Amino acid sequence: MVKFSERANSIQPTGVRRMFDMAGDDTIQFGLGEPDFQPPEIAIKAFTQAMEEGKNKYTTTAGLPELRKKIAEEWSNLSPNLTESNVCITMSGTNALLDVFLAIVDPGDNVLIPEPYFPLYPPDVVICGGEPNLYPCNFDNGFVPKIADLEKLVNDKTVAILYNFPSNPTGATLSIDERDKLVDFAIRHDLWIISDEVYDRIIYNGSHVSFLGAGHDKLFLINSFSKTFAMTGWRIGYILSPDDDAMIQINKMQYYVTACSNDAMQYAVLSALENAPDYPNTMRDEFQLRRDLICSRLNAMDGVTCHIPEGAFYVFPKVEVNGYNSKELALKILQLGGVLCSPGTAFGEAGEGHLRFAYTIDRDGISEGMDRLEEVLIKLRG
Ligand SMILES: Cc1ncc(COP(=O)(O)O)c(C=O)c1O
Repeated sequence: MVKFSERANSIQPTGVRRMFDMAGDDTIQFGLGEPDFQPPEIAIKAFTQAMEEGKNKYTTTAGLPELRKKIAEEWSNLSPNLTESNVCITMSGTNALLDVFLAIVDPGDNVLIPEPYFPLYPPDVVICGGEPNLYPCNFDNGFVPKIADLEKLVNDKTVAILYNFPSNPTGATLSIDERDKLVDFAIRHDLWIISDEVYDRIIYNGSHVSFLGAGHDKLFLINSFSKTFAMTGWRIGYILSPDDDAMIQINKMQYYVTACSNDAMQYAVLSALENAPDYPNTMRDEFQLRRDLICSRLNAMDGVTCHIPEGAFYVFPKVEVNGYNSKELALKILQLGGVLCSPGTAFGEAGEGHLRFAYTIDRDGISEGMDRLEEVLIKLRG
């Protein structure tokens, strides 16, 4: 008899992917969270040049020292003592998350995970033998958690709390005051903070509020160049921790998971950081125009309400049509209107009543998609 592990049997493909696989050629795609831009030209050239120069080998596990140094410098305004040894280059944010859970979760431990969530978090914790301990980030509270809810859920097997701001799927950001209350909660319960800040460069008003330098060094900051430089297919990111012992453990995990990141690509990312520092802002400005467009269209539709997201490139409106749950509704919108969005429940049960739209298509596409959506909703309401 063929046997697979309980771990493998217990996790399922994500709902976002399932919808994506059903889309036809003329579908308007609000499904996948990847920028519709190309990486900076200078990074592509640096990538090619590095390969031609023979940078095609294993690197040290933690990655290219110059790149790690550059990343440490970029965060030094928040944590001045950081050095390259506080950074480990990974093959994406996805790889970084797994390394962190592997380093701190034992069987029976639990990790506080926001719901709605980026769909990798709960399975990652399960893969490491732990249990996801879901805390609500509700629409009514601007998708920011309440300390009272966290206090009810934390217990003596809780080892960490994961935050994700700006958030996928909600686009929510944090104020400094809200961040400080969350840090205080983690300190009182002696928890690791895992802060997923992969959208830190896509902030529309004000600046990014990080968990780094906020008074709790028992911290893993997860980041990625996927969204920052539109390099989703390159698979490169990093883990940063001010805690030196934590980095020793992370480097071990990284070694056994994937040995090291891609050699030539690390030179390309270094080049992007050095020579195209404004590239993320240019992309962000375009996302802001799209955000304004999609939110005004959504909020003008009957039975649709959305917060105006302050970061990332997602909007997570409440869309209610009698007789349809979010999965059925997303399917109807795809079948009748040729518009692909993700059901809110692809991000956990708390996403019921919501749909997620990634505004990673041009403004004409957004307008056409919203026209089609509006027609479908009118039709479904009879
Ligand atoms: C919140 C969040 N974290 C991490 C990731 C992983 O990004 P990557 O693996 O491309 O670096 C994503 C990707 O969509 C994300 O939305």
